[in-house]
Amino acid sequence: MRKSRKNIGIIGLGFYVPKKVLTNKDLEGMVDTSDEWITTRTGIKERRIAGPTESTSTLAFNAAKDALKDAKLAPEDLDLIIVATITPDMAFPATACFLQEMLGAKNAACFDMSAACAGFIYGLVTAQKFLQSGTYKNALVIGAEKLSSVTDWQDRNTCVLFGDGAGAAVLAPVENGGILASYLGCDGSMTELLMQPAGGSRMPASRQTVDDRMHFIKMRGNEVFKLAIKIMSDAACRALKACKLGVEDIDCFIPHQANMRILDAVARKMKLPLEKIYFNVAKYGNMSSAATAVALCEAYKCGRIRGGDIVVLDAFGAGLVWGAAVIQWQK
Ligand code: ACO
Repeated sequence: MRKSRKNIGIIGLGFYVPKKVLTNKDLEGMVDTSDEWITTRTGIKERRIAGPTESTSTLAFNAAKDALKDAKLAPEDLDLIIVATITPDMAFPATACFLQEMLGAKNAACFDMSAACAGFIYGLVTAQKFLQSGTYKNALVIGAEKLSSVTDWQDRNTCVLFGDGAGAAVLAPVENGGILASYLGCDGSMTELLMQPAGGSRMPASRQTVDDRMHFIKMRGNEVFKLAIKIMSDAACRALKACKLGVEDIDCFIPHQANMRILDAVARKMKLPLEKIYFNVAKYGNMSSAATAVALCEAYKCGRIRGGDIVVLDAFGAGLVWGAAVIQWQK
């Protein structure tokens, strides 16, 4: 837990979601499920699915162009690119390297960040430290996922939950406000709850791993559900406390968009009115690293965030990892 020294803020935001919409009705034709079950258990109505020529880097590219335009910066102005993702284009090189080439951001150092659904917040905090130290002046942080590429379209327990998209933020020093405080955490004893078992060094790809469908997301949803409520409310309160603010100071709460029932329960636990929360889970489902990034960008673009507002980002995901950041939006 750290309080900021030099003020670092978000000076540009952008997002991109693929054109193809997959509705709950469409899923009824793919697995044994119903629009009614998905809606009441998750709040999700539809999600976006990347086309065959789209990959995580192309989704990230579209979001990045939007954010750079908003920040009024050229790609050459970027000193650092962090792509938060659990669905990189390849295990290596980093998706951030592909993105650098697409953007022409030839002056930027580049790496990927793997912190599942908390990846965008981990990325923001990491970039903030580089900028605070004076090492770099401008940074681009992106949450981007093509989760459809690791979704088991035969498993009704998981395939109804996920979608594809990307959200991007440009960070730079600001006069006032910016990231006031953050809190990042992890409990590695719970890796079993949510993982993509095969394809890494522990279980390299083989005919057997493909036959056993081990390259897809495996999740013990019910256990994740209960932990998410406790973890998210705790992380947000710790980050607020670190900058001497309380729940009553929040103007806009932007949580990880996994499940409407989780968000309802988090709001109750924190005693946070629902109208202070930005929701878009119905439209996009769970986009992991991209979820908070896209939600922040949408909230900003539709005028839900104004200068001086206290905005809280809050997420948890596979690891389990979690993170929260308190941002005072600069005027
Ligand atoms: N359609 C119809 N029935 C279904 C479906 C479906 N799509 N999926 C599961 N069911 C059935 C189950 O088989 C089970 O049936 P049974 O009682 O006959 O065994 C029943 O519905 C209830 O299943 P539960 O798992 O108990 O349902 P629950 O209310 O917990 O909802 C859900 C499941 C939506 C997955 C929920 O647990 C959840 O949202 N968990 C959190 C997931 C999450 O937030 N992950 C975040 C991180 S993602 C990341 O990091 C990449």
